[in-house]
Amino acid sequence: MACPKLFLSCLLLQLMSSFLVPEVAHGRGLKVGFYQKACPNAEAIVKEVIGQVMSVAPSLSGPLLRLHFHDCFVRGCEGSVLLNSPDNHSEKDARPNHSLRGFQTIDRVKTALEKACPGIVSCADILAIVARDVVVATGGLFYDVETGRRDGNVSSMKEALNDLIPATANITTLKTDFAKRGLSVKDLVVLSGGHTIGTSHCRSFSERLYNFTGQGDPDPTLDPNYIARLKLSCKPNDQTTLIEMDPGSVRTFDIKYFELIAKRRGLFTSDAALLDDSQTKAYLDFQIKTGGSTFFKDFGVSIMKMGRIGVLTETAGEVRKVCSKVN
Ligand code: HEM
Repeated sequence: MACPKLFLSCLLLQLMSSFLVPEVAHGRGLKVGFYQKACPNAEAIVKEVIGQVMSVAPSLSGPLLRLHFHDCFVRGCEGSVLLNSPDNHSEKDARPNHSLRGFQTIDRVKTALEKACPGIVSCADILAIVARDVVVATGGLFYDVETGRRDGNVSSMKEALNDLIPATANITTLKTDFAKRGLSVKDLVVLSGGHTIGTSHCRSFSERLYNFTGQGDPDPTLDPNYIARLKLSCKPNDQTTLIEMDPGSVRTFDIKYFELIAKRRGLFTSDAALLDDSQTKAYLDFQIKTGGSTFFKDFGVSIMKMGRIGVLTETAGEVRKVCSKVN
């Protein structure tokens, strides 16, 4: 903010805004290469472990990317999604998080890091670096990850239930929920592109097949041919079957999921909703027309913004020794 003439009032404004807007919410204290001095091999160690995991269990790419998103949207990116609670009331225990996987991989990365640099690399940063590494491992573009997050020591099932966006969200809810976290409409459509990898349980979209308005009807906005195909795998009340969100390219980070949404084959109402806003629809159309000319780069920018949500830095929080427990 440049203040040539009204210097005093401008200074006052700056002071006021620094009180009104919590600095942590904007990722202050994060930087690319935060561990360069204290643990120079940190990112190389994460990359190595993720490489090993991907070679034997490539289906963990989706779950590992999703963990970072679910961490950031509840209490900010401070590792609360990883905490266990003795009375089953942590974020993990909230129903939308029952389908999260990949915790053992995070523990494996943490063990390797603790061996090399004890007490240095936070679990929240591990989630952010791992998310990048699975994007790259599935064919996405490398992006720099800001680090320097510290771990929180609170994890609440109630907050997860309140703060995670349901698959039934419409475009208004999606935009509002992203805006609340400082994320734009563009970030919404770009980050929804994360659904290019991974799977979903039938239960996450089954009302679109069987009971959209409570009258036993399907969702009219979902392609009827796709509904017929999905019904072959997903019977009513199926709790276990996994469906590829981007069939045929479920382990490849690409723009095929955008193509599916445009063909009315996006699995969730929240994906289909991207056709209901002129800006998100224009983004989809542009990526499809240009073969994803900017998607990969955009993803790196938007996920960096996501990674700044509500972070704890400097003296706040702690660096957990074990990701599932506070020190
Ligand atoms: C915009 C709001 C979003 C909603 C409503 C949403 C909802 C969902 C749902 C319901 C599932 C399936 C869970 C299951 O049944 O197993 C899922 C999976 C997934 N989501 Fe999202 N999601 C959203 C945004 C994001 C974002 C921003 C990312 C990452 C950048 C992401 C990454 C993933 C991935 C990778 C999977 C697959 C997980 C796996 O393979 O187990 N999602 N999402």
